[in-house]
Amino acid sequence: MPYPHVLLSAAVSLDGYLDDTGPDRLLLSSPADFDRVDEVRASVDAILIGAGTIRADNPRLLVNDPGRRAARVAAGKPEYPLKVTVTATGDLDPDANFWHTGGEKVLYTTDTGAERAAAQGVAADIVALGADLDWRRLLEHLHDVRGVRRLMVEGGGTVHTQLLQQGLADEVQLVLAPLFVGDPKAPRLFGPGGYQAGRLRLLESRRIEDVVLMRYEPTAPGEGAPASAADRHWLRLACELAAECPPSRTAFSVGAVVVAADGTELARGHSREAGDPVVHAEEAALAKIDPADPRLPTATVYTSLEPCTHRSSRPHPCAELILRAGVRRVVTAWREPDTFVAAADGTGMLRDRGVAVVVLGEYEDLAKVPNAHLV
Ligand SMILES: NC(=O)c1ccc[n+]([C@@H]2O[C@H](COP(=O)([O-])OP(=O)(O)OC[C@H]3O[C@@H](n4cnc5c(N)ncnc54)[C@H](OP(=O)(O)O)[C@@H]3O)[C@@H](O)[C@H]2O)c1
Ligand SMILES: [Zn+2]
Repeated sequence: MPYPHVLLSAAVSLDGYLDDTGPDRLLLSSPADFDRVDEVRASVDAILIGAGTIRADNPRLLVNDPGRRAARVAAGKPEYPLKVTVTATGDLDPDANFWHTGGEKVLYTTDTGAERAAAQGVAADIVALGADLDWRRLLEHLHDVRGVRRLMVEGGGTVHTQLLQQGLADEVQLVLAPLFVGDPKAPRLFGPGGYQAGRLRLLESRRIEDVVLMRYEPTAPGEGAPASAADRHWLRLACELAAECPPSRTAFSVGAVVVAADGTELARGHSREAGDPVVHAEEAALAKIDPADPRLPTATVYTSLEPCTHRSSRPHPCAELILRAGVRRVVTAWREPDTFVAAADGTGMLRDRGVAVVVLGEYEDLAKVPNAHLV
């Protein structure tokens, strides 16, 4: 059940507001930045906003530049990205610009919201997701049914907050505008609550006229998410650690990192580290963590090769060490080939014991680099 790549995009005042409380939309960005947003829109398959933004701003959400639209068509894509919105109430104005400009529209809502929206004559594909709207089901539907691989989310704050708090955002593009709103009743970009984002990693900062664009990537693994940007970051690191292993003709070179739910690295390790000729990566990393550490049950083990299930060199294979440590989630790049052990299945063994194992095959080649002589 893969999800699209989710990119949150917003502009905020220096005091963190998305808008003021006046009737008109507050212009936070600069002309050159609006053009940048147009370029990002042209690059995605779908754009999502909440019903609150439709009601407040009545936006069109178009790709304005004709050259960018032509390039989309030349690449075999629809002229405009799919427009997506969410509502629980179904309280939407059927005459809003959203429904009457650009390409196709889809509305995700609840069962009651669907009845109301249909009765109001909203011109969109209306998808009811049950009594409540679940973001994971929405993202799955966009991916599987609508073929969306890149989703841009343009607010408002209610929508941005939920996606970040649930660990479903892969990237945040934030524009900071040099002005103050100063009205506590104005909408904020991010609301209170627990965030599954960790300490975000800054990917880029760029001056655009008088505003600053910051691009961030969350670092905390998304709970239940099949694979987040944070997962890819940590798994890549595990694969890079494997290159530090002293070479061997009789064992794989593997790297592992253990990461807490808030994105804190707890430990890392690699095969045969620190002069121990037989130590495995997961074993080395877990040995550096206090077994009573309360963060272990919600931590993730990232390992370039799936954990082993059979060992002659030590009494406990890594899959068992992971279970003993109480870790419930593993992300790996590569299923063990039968070079040394026939039909090794660390993934199956861990899944049978209730551990969520995510295999990110796109990193398999990287995991194999220091093992080229063995496969
Ligand atoms: N500066 C910027 O970049 C930017 C961008 C966008 C918006 N804004 C500003 O943000 C303000 C609007 O913010 P907002 O937080 O009110 O709006 P919003 O996030 O666009 O929309 C909130 C609404 O979306 C629906 N919704 C959200 N989560 C849902 C869920 N899990 N299930 C079902 N429905 C869900 C609900 O609609 P129902 O109430 O219909 O159920 C909810 O009231 C406006 O002032 C706008 O100008 C600024
Ligand atoms: Zn092992």
